[in-house]
Amino acid sequence: MKNFTYYNPTKIHFGKGQISTIDTEIPSGARIMLTYGGGSIKTNGIYDQVIKALGERHIVEFSGIEANPRYETLMKAVVIIREQKLDYLLAVGGGSVVDGTKFIAAAVDYPGDPWDFCTMGIQSKSALPIGVVLTLAATGSEMNSGGVITREEQKSKRAFGNPLVFPKFSVLDPETTFSLPPRQVTNGIVDAFVHTTEQYLTFPAHAPLQDRQAEGILLTLIEEGPKALLQAPDYDNRANLMWCATQALNGLIGTGVPQDWATHMIGHELTALHGLDHAVTLAIVWPGVMHIMKDEKKEKLLQYAKRVWLITEGTDDEKIKKAITLTDNFFRSLGVKTRLSEHQIGSVTINKIAERLQGAGMAKLGERGTITPEKVIKILNERL
Ligand code: NZQ
Ligand code: ZN
Repeated sequence: MKNFTYYNPTKIHFGKGQISTIDTEIPSGARIMLTYGGGSIKTNGIYDQVIKALGERHIVEFSGIEANPRYETLMKAVVIIREQKLDYLLAVGGGSVVDGTKFIAAAVDYPGDPWDFCTMGIQSKSALPIGVVLTLAATGSEMNSGGVITREEQKSKRAFGNPLVFPKFSVLDPETTFSLPPRQVTNGIVDAFVHTTEQYLTFPAHAPLQDRQAEGILLTLIEEGPKALLQAPDYDNRANLMWCATQALNGLIGTGVPQDWATHMIGHELTALHGLDHAVTLAIVWPGVMHIMKDEKKEKLLQYAKRVWLITEGTDDEKIKKAITLTDNFFRSLGVKTRLSEHQIGSVTINKIAERLQGAGMAKLGERGTITPEKVIKILNERL
C-alpha cells in the first residue's frame, strides 16, 4: 500500500427530514447565497424545505447553474457576492450546482482569473464556507474537494481541486431524489460505478480492504441500480444508491492505491464537444479502456471478473472479455447508449479528442501514464 494522508472534514446529515439541520449548521447572522440549477427544486418541494429551515437569515438567490456548470455563469455569482458582501454559500442541487458553488467559493477572493484553477492547478488561498443539500446521487461532490467546470467560449471542460472547498456539511436526504427522471437516476448509478472502477481497476497494490470496499460498492450498484428503474421510488433503495455514490468518491477507496481517471478525462472532452451527459460518456469510454488496456490491467480485470461478475469458467482472456461485455450490458440495461455511433459521433471527433488531450498536457493518462493520444484513438475506435 502506498503512503497516504486522508482528510475529509465534511459532516454528513443523512436521511429523511434532515434538511431541517441546516438551521443548526449555518450561523444565524450569515449572509447567504443560495445557489441552484434550472428550477427542479421549486417543483419538488425541496426549495420550500430549505427556505423554511433558513428562517430569518439574509438570503440572495442565484439560480440557473447549468448541468456541466459554466464559468461564464458562475462569474456572475462572484460579482454579486463581492458587491453584496455575502459570506456563506448554500448549494441545493446535483453535482453541477455543488461543483459550480465550489468554484464560486474559491473565486470570490482570488485576485487573478479563477479559470487558472482549472488550467494551471492554482489553488485559491481562501474560500467561502459551503453547505450542500444534495438532490442527485452521482458525483460524490457533496463529500470531496473537487469540481469540474466548463468554459463555454473555449468548449473546454476542466477539473479543479482545493481542500478549502470541502463542504462544511452536506444533507443527503434520499427522498430528494424521488423526483429525478430515469435518465438522471441512471446517470448517477453509472457515474458512481465508474468512479469506483477508476480507483479499483488498475494494478494490485496490496490493499485488500480498499479492494473489498470498492467491490462492495460495485456489487451494491449492480443489485440496487436496476430496482430504482423498475419501481416507484423506494426509500431504502434510493438511500443505498445515495450512500454508494458518496462513498465512491469521498476519497476513502482511493487511499493508498493507484488511480486511473483516463475514462473521465476522455469523457470530459466528449461532453465539451457534443454535450453528452457526463455519465453517458463514461459508459461509452470505460469498456474501451478495459479492452485496450487489458494486458496492463490483467490481474485486476481477473479479480473484477471473479468477484464482481462471478465469472469462474474459461481462459483468462475469455473471462476478461466476458467481464467487459457484462459491464457494457449492465450500462445498456439501465438505458444508456454505450456506442459512439448511437450518438452520431465518428472518427472526426475521435481525432479531435486525441489532439485536444495532447494540447492540454494530458498525453500520458492512466495509472501508469501509458494512455497516449494514440491509445485514446484506439479506445474510442473500439467504441464506435
Ligand atoms: O438544474 P436542475 O433543475 O436542478 O435539474 C437538474 C439537471 O437538469 C436535474 N436534477 C437534479 N436533481 C433533481 C433533478 N431533477 C429532478 N429532481 C431532482 N431531485 O438533473 C439534471 C442534471 O444535474 P447535474 O447536477 O448536472 O447532474 P450530476 O449530479 O450528475 O452532476 C454532473 C456534473 O458533475 C461533474 C460532471 O462532470 C458534471 O459536470 N462531476 C463532478 C465530480 C466531482 N465534483 O467530484 C466528479 C464527477 O466525475 C463528475 O465529473
Ligand atoms: Zn464522474
